[in-house]
Amino acid sequence: MMTYTFVPLLLKSSNPRVIFITSGTSTLTETYDRTLDFNYVPPKGWPKEPGPVLGFPAYRSSKTALNMVMREWTRWLRDDGVKVFCCDPGFSATNLGGSPEIMKSLGAQDPAIGGHFIKDVLQGKRDADAGKVLRIDGIQPW
Ligand SMILES: NC(=O)c1ccc[n+]([C@@H]2O[C@H](COP(=O)([O-])OP(=O)(O)OC[C@H]3O[C@@H](n4cnc5c(N)ncnc54)[C@H](OP(=O)(O)O)[C@@H]3O)[C@@H](O)[C@H]2O)c1
Repeated sequence: MMTYTFVPLLLKSSNPRVIFITSGTSTLTETYDRTLDFNYVPPKGWPKEPGPVLGFPAYRSSKTALNMVMREWTRWLRDDGVKVFCCDPGFSATNLGGSPEIMKSLGAQDPAIGGHFIKDVLQGKRDADAGKVLRIDGIQPW
């Protein structure tokens, strides 16, 4: 809704970009990777007790959907010269998991690291990767 609302302003820019904030948990390919905490497989039986990390199915599914939203905006605005990205800022100590302290205790990084990354994308340093899901150190698999 926000992108839709601001497209007329965006198109006045000589170098327009749109950035959606996705998550490292959104990749379908890496759901095969059992070394990642959020891919924890609970023991058999029902009900399932939450693992070391709950797995947040709704959160990560919404971010997978967001990656498609990014692809759709890429398609819609291609001929307008707009560069569209998804960015994963990395596991960061914010209020997302309750408090920065809780997140830090789980290994989250200083949010400034993700912030600088987003700023770099905003300033064009990753323009060659437009239309993709970006991580600080590369491209996230779909
Ligand atoms: N933290 C991580 O490890 C991590 C990793 C990957 C991706 N992300 C993504 O990064 C983004 C920012 O999350 P965060 O970690 O910084 O979480 P956060 O500390 O909880 O911050 C969320 C921010 O969103 C604002 N917000 C929430 N609902 C809103 C609404 N309806 N309208 C306008 N603003 C709203 C909040 O504003 P108020 O403070 O005013 O409530 C707050 O500033 C999210 O998209 C998250 O999924 C986070």
